Amino acid sequence: MPEVMIPFNRSSVAGNELAYMAEAVAGEHISGDGPFSRRCHELLERELGIRKAFLTTSCTHALEMSALLLQIQPGDEVIVPSFTFVSTANAYVLHGARPVFADIRRDTLNLDENQLAEQITPRTKAIVPVHYGGVGCHMDAILEIAGRHGIAVVEDNAHGLFGKYQGRMLGTFGCMATLSFHESKNFTCGEGGALLVNDPQYLERAEIIREKGTNRSRLFRGEVNKYTWMDIGSSYLPSDMLAGFLYGQLEARDVIQSSRRRIWEYYYAQLQSWAMEHNVRLPMVPDDCEHTSHVFYLIMPSPEDRQALIAYLRSHGIYAVFHYLPLHLSEMGRKAAGKTACCPVTEEISSRLIRLPLFYSLTREEQERIIDRVTRFY
Ligand SMILES: Cc1ncc(COP(=O)(O)O)c(C=O)c1O
Repeated sequence: MPEVMIPFNRSSVAGNELAYMAEAVAGEHISGDGPFSRRCHELLERELGIRKAFLTTSCTHALEMSALLLQIQPGDEVIVPSFTFVSTANAYVLHGARPVFADIRRDTLNLDENQLAEQITPRTKAIVPVHYGGVGCHMDAILEIAGRHGIAVVEDNAHGLFGKYQGRMLGTFGCMATLSFHESKNFTCGEGGALLVNDPQYLERAEIIREKGTNRSRLFRGEVNKYTWMDIGSSYLPSDMLAGFLYGQLEARDVIQSSRRRIWEYYYAQLQSWAMEHNVRLPMVPDDCEHTSHVFYLIMPSPEDRQALIAYLRSHGIYAVFHYLPLHLSEMGRKAAGKTACCPVTEEISSRLIRLPLFYSLTREEQERIIDRVTRFY
């Protein structure tokens, strides 16, 4: 009998998501910034202790908003890890910036802060660290270097909502931070994101840029009696139906996080001795980080082993994947950077990394099957 397929990711509900979507429809407000958007904003601001959260249509759009807020111009340079999703770089390239690709640390796969100083030039406008897998970057070192040169730090926190570095929430270190609520993330509304603004100098423009360059938000608050075109901008607000779904997920955050944590820890415990025996590396989480159990990866001894394990698992109905392809080697990455950057750790890791299925509704039986197949691979 063929084995039942285990997907890489499966979306599911954990609480009141569907009821809240229906409530948004019944309340006759399904455009942006309705009651559920407000509840999401309040929850994020309270739990993270930040000045302002703005829901957006994606993390990509939140990153694009940060580029507009930082007034990125052609000729500016933005330092990003090469080991990340396209949007971390593309959001700034869209406004003419040159991406300066940084290599990653071997242990956490986060941007290597030790190489930052030599990458800074008078044109550097921003550093965009990514908390890979929800494990915090070395933020004290990054903020120290950025502060010394007067450079903005925008945290791409697509993976790390409610994760902590040195006891402090990820997303609260930079002048701004971004979140993703894409289906593949810990908390989701299908497609969605948020811009977190920590530095008050960006607050007023953020609100305007997000509302098509208008001061419509002030009209809704009763602060003006008409709204008008104030600045450049676009349409970055998600529908309140999606905000309803997201609010249900955020409300159920403890259930979702503890389930993911259980799955992550079970993988770790069950694969540890197999990994040591076969020279496979498991994720590393520094003592001063509370991670979000967003990814569970294996770093295989060779690219050939990685490909063979993916194929072997696939032949048994298990969908494991790899990512990211190094941005500095992509056609667009080379063109935008004007040269091929030197990121040997990124190249090596990205050719050997495999991600195992990890999602809220993964059952213990499914996980046992995955572990059983992985440990029978060699
Ligand atoms: C590190 C990182 N940044 C940004 C994004 C983009 O997120 P979104 O799909 O919400 O635009 C992703 C998506 O996977 C990501 O992994």
